[in-house]
Order: sequence, then structure tokens, then C-alpha cells
Amino acid sequence: MITLLMNQQPFYLLQWKPHQDQRGSLIALDAQDSLPFTVARIYYLYGLSPKQPRGFHAHKQLQQVAVCLQGRCRFLLESGQQQQEIWLTSPDQGLYLGPGVWREMHDFSPDCLLLVMADRSYDPDDYLNSREAFKAWQAGEKLA
Ligand code: TYD
Repeated sequence: MITLLMNQQPFYLLQWKPHQDQRGSLIALDAQDSLPFTVARIYYLYGLSPKQPRGFHAHKQLQQVAVCLQGRCRFLLESGQQQQEIWLTSPDQGLYLGPGVWREMHDFSPDCLLLVMADRSYDPDDYLNSREAFKAWQAGEKLA
């Protein structure tokens, strides 16, 4: 596993090495060395539209890695003072999203297939669903 950005960061890119031969490519994500957490849940998004952005929330505790298995999409990320736009365009890259990262997904290509791995089960109470809730949570974290 090679991280493209510092892996102490609230979000960063992972780069995986495909097994390539004349038949095509295979990427194996092994719990031992390919992911920063043990996967408890997987979900995927498909049938997406460039005109229908998604996300618009942060999580209090959840860690995730998003992989664009096919097509492309643009993530807008914010954590603390840090804001960044990241395009996911290749199945050999994973985007780690830690707690306290506001994420928006934009500009899905029509063929986009976005896989997300998460370290815990679905919990609506873990969501910060508005900018106000996100900012208040961040301010609370700073005080803690
Ligand atoms: P939503 O959080 O709106 O997706 P996005 O962050 O991509 O905008 O989720 C859409 C629906 O799916 C919503 O009704 C909640 C449900 N859902 C689950 O039941 N389990 C899950 O693991 C996830 C991620 C969503």
C-alpha cells in the first residue's frame, strides 16, 4: 500500500498495485496491508448522474475508503482549515475519509460505479447532515 498524501491526514489517497498480465488486471485488497481499517460494511453507488451530486455530510466516527471501480467522479472535501478537490478516475486508487470530513460528490460520469468500504455498520446518528451541525461538531472537537 502506498499513500499518496500523508496518512495522518483526515483524508488521503491510497494507491494499489494491480496484478497485470495479458488477460487484464486484478487488484486484491487484503486486510493485512491494503486498507487502514477492518471493513465492516460495503456499499456501492451506480446509475448516477452528473446533475445529481450526493454526500453533503460528514461523519463523527466513521472511516471509509471510496473506490471508483468504473468511470469518474469529483470529491469536494473539507476538514478543519483544509479544503480539497479530488477526482477519482481509476480503480487502483482509494480515497480514505476519516471522521470529521465534509464530503460532496459531484460530476459523476454516467458509467460511474463507486464502491465504498466502511469500518462500521450504518448508523444515522453518526451523520452530520448540515453545514451548521458540521461546524458545531468541529468547534466542539477543538474544545475537547
Ligand atoms: P445517503 O446517505 O443519502 O447517500 P449519499 O451519502 O451518497 O448521498 O443514502 C441513501 C439512502 O441509503 C438513505 O436512505 C440511507 C440508505 N443507506 C443505508 O441504508 N445503508 C447504508 O450503508 C448507506 C450508506 C445508506
